[in-house]
Amino acid sequence: MGINILNSNKAEIQDGESLKQLEYIEQAKDKVSALEKELGRKLTACVVTFGCQMNARDSEKLLATLKLAGYEETESEDADFVIYNTCSVRDNADQRVLGRLGQTSNFKKKNPNMKIAICGCMMQEAGAVEKIQKSYRFVDLIFGTHNIYKFAELLNTVLDSDRMIIDIWKETDKIVEDLPAFRKYPFKSGVNIMFGCNNFCTYCIVPYVRGRERSRSPKDIIRECEKLAADGVKEVMLLGQNVNSYGLDFSDDNPDKISFAKLLELVCEVEGIERVRFMTPHPKDFSDELLDVIAKNPKIARHIHLPLQAGNSEILRRMNRKYTKESYLELAGKIREKLPDVAITTDIIVGFPGETKEAVLDTIDVIKKVKFDNAFTFIYSKRPGTPAASFEDQVPEEVVKENFDMLLKVVQETAKEQTAKLQGRTETVLVEGVNEHDKSLLTGRMSNNTLVHFPGGEELIGELVPVSLLECHGFYYLGKLVK
Ligand code: 5AD
Ligand code: SF4
Repeated sequence: MGINILNSNKAEIQDGESLKQLEYIEQAKDKVSALEKELGRKLTACVVTFGCQMNARDSEKLLATLKLAGYEETESEDADFVIYNTCSVRDNADQRVLGRLGQTSNFKKKNPNMKIAICGCMMQEAGAVEKIQKSYRFVDLIFGTHNIYKFAELLNTVLDSDRMIIDIWKETDKIVEDLPAFRKYPFKSGVNIMFGCNNFCTYCIVPYVRGRERSRSPKDIIRECEKLAADGVKEVMLLGQNVNSYGLDFSDDNPDKISFAKLLELVCEVEGIERVRFMTPHPKDFSDELLDVIAKNPKIARHIHLPLQAGNSEILRRMNRKYTKESYLELAGKIREKLPDVAITTDIIVGFPGETKEAVLDTIDVIKKVKFDNAFTFIYSKRPGTPAASFEDQVPEEVVKENFDMLLKVVQETAKEQTAKLQGRTETVLVEGVNEHDKSLLTGRMSNNTLVHFPGGEELIGELVPVSLLECHGFYYLGKLVK
């Protein structure tokens, strides 16, 4: 897989803080190279990512810093530098990281030069740092979400020190986005448009670990898209916890204050960008203007991820979602009407406090009415510090499990039915790579995000090609390149 550096050219970097970090990378490079000479071998680094696309994008930057400092990338955690970029949305992600950390400590026993770092959302949780300090003393570096841009500086400090370095900020109003990134895919990239969340859904820890909403200026976003396009990127995904409240944090007299819909239009105008996705909109802010812009713009992917969370209005009220079963159905209906070829996917939480059988049946009713093309179903996870964690009517585990299974069945049936509707069509597919299980096939994604596998040569990777959809296999298709 090709790997590209973005913004590594100093002349292109305008942000003073980013330039400072590039200096730190140079310093780290000297240290890495001295250690290489001493050990008589190359040094390796491994970045392990948990959680959402925003974390994945952050990890591309962490990896770029490590590579530019001279480390060779490896998938194995038996490396000279291992960094865990953590997620704290659900408790099982926390537990998985801690399990992995325990195992990695065994590698460190064999390799005294090894450095272990941990960063991201989990580190912003109350008590998390203390836990690492107490039970995982072999960790060398801990930092959070607000100062991730300082990684090069922290790397330097850690390479000089035998003590645990901890740097966690409570908040920041700073946006530093001009840093180098090693993209996983040369032809597609995430682009952060905003950070943080103001919604405070009562189950969710994100507003506490990612801070308040901060939008990047449209100029910076477009400049990044232009550079990506010049570097061969064909598809961008605009990223934010709540993308359609983009710009609302700008004051009214700020010329940068434009709506998310307008921003989408500007991104579509960037030459070379052929497909634009976005993640995640909130149903409460989904405007008609946005629907119209999508309808008018064939570059915008025919996929809307519209988190439902629950289909019962009382549960939605207690979740602080600010919409009802009826208003969600109305919005979904409008989307289906205005954008008949769009896939609607969703997130659903099962087992929120107070969820009755009747409430679950409401969720099932919404699934059947909207006919979601796909849905991620999560078991409610109690996050300390969030309002819902102290709600008294927590649902017993067995009941949650039963409801979860019931819901999953409906979700799967609906998704299969929806996917089957595409049979016989010819769709434009962005070819992502060689199929992992059958090397004679390529794998790509349609505009509506459905996967398709079809025979073809590696030279098509990164290209947008027409593929006819021959056989539906549940959630994906087998197809044939249309010459
Ligand atoms: N428990 C379970 N799922 C959660 N999500 C967010 N917080 C929790 C929680 N405490 C889910 C929501 C969100 C997705 C990213 O994660 O469905 O949309
Ligand atoms: Fe969490 Fe709600 Fe914000 Fe999404 S909108 S990040 S679920 S608080």
